[in-house]
Amino acid sequence: MNGIFYFSSIGNSLYIAEQIKNELGGEIRYIPKFTGDVNIYDKIIIVSPIHSFGLPTLVYNFVINIKSSKPLYIVLNHGGMQANALYYAYQLCKKKGLNIRSVQAVIMPEIYTLTFFQPKFLINLVLRKAPKRLKLIIAAIRDNKEIIIPKPKKDKWTPKHLKNRKIWHLLAKYFKVTKNCNNCQKCITICPVDNIRQENGSIVFDDKCVACLSCYHRCPEKAIVYKNKRKKDRYINPFIQEKNIGTDQVE
Ligand SMILES: Cc1cc2nc3c(=O)[nH]c(=O)nc-3n(C[C@H](O)[C@H](O)[C@H](O)COP(=O)(O)O)c2cc1C
Ligand code: SF4
Ligand code: SF4
Repeated sequence: MNGIFYFSSIGNSLYIAEQIKNELGGEIRYIPKFTGDVNIYDKIIIVSPIHSFGLPTLVYNFVINIKSSKPLYIVLNHGGMQANALYYAYQLCKKKGLNIRSVQAVIMPEIYTLTFFQPKFLINLVLRKAPKRLKLIIAAIRDNKEIIIPKPKKDKWTPKHLKNRKIWHLLAKYFKVTKNCNNCQKCITICPVDNIRQENGSIVFDDKCVACLSCYHRCPEKAIVYKNKRKKDRYINPFIQEKNIGTDQVE
């Protein structure tokens, strides 16, 4: 059986994981909560967003702790700037001695929209094209196709990724909670690293943030704002059920 491991803030990676499950079968497992042994699966498929030209912290931690010779496939998704993330992930697996078969990528709507606005037509266009693009990616996994990712001639992105990863924990310090907050506590529940709590009736952020932006996009009142900007746009993938983000789908 396939083990489809995902991390997802807003549902893009969950959407891809569900497409893979529909086509190839298997169980969907949420990486931050997975404590079992990946070796119960025949194929290990990881679906992850790209964060700052590389892997999100929690996915990186998951990969470096895999102890398995099972065939491994990685499907990354990103907002249009994959940089050298494919090679970064490929190389990481090779260094770990993992049986990496392919690292592939697909464009999805951008969620790092703290300081700019992504036009609706672009979101819709990318979503419309995703199924066709995913078909090729899924076929390569089904056929166990080996895709070798060559070393890029020049890599200015990976050093940036490594630098950014060191300061991600500071991101939530720039979040403010507006008076629209109705204390529903959803942000506390959905944060993948328990970085949000209530103190004297107010929402406060600690310093373990992994910059996933789940709280920012999924607060029902849009009450979490960045650097006091009053941006109104928020995004959740329309083809998944939001309540399934962060859960497993097992038989
Ligand atoms: C902290 C952070 C950094 C990101 N960095 C990149 C990036 O370097 N290049 C890119 O194209 N998209 C980047 N994105 C966008 C996501 O990769 C993209 O929107 C992805 O589809 C989100 O998937 P998810 O909903 O499963 O989390 C970033 C998103 C976040 C939250
Ligand atoms: S999710 Fe939004 S409304 Fe709910 S407690 Fe958090 S900040 Fe307040
Ligand atoms: S505080 Fe918000 S952005 Fe940071 S890890 Fe938690 S949910 Fe993600």
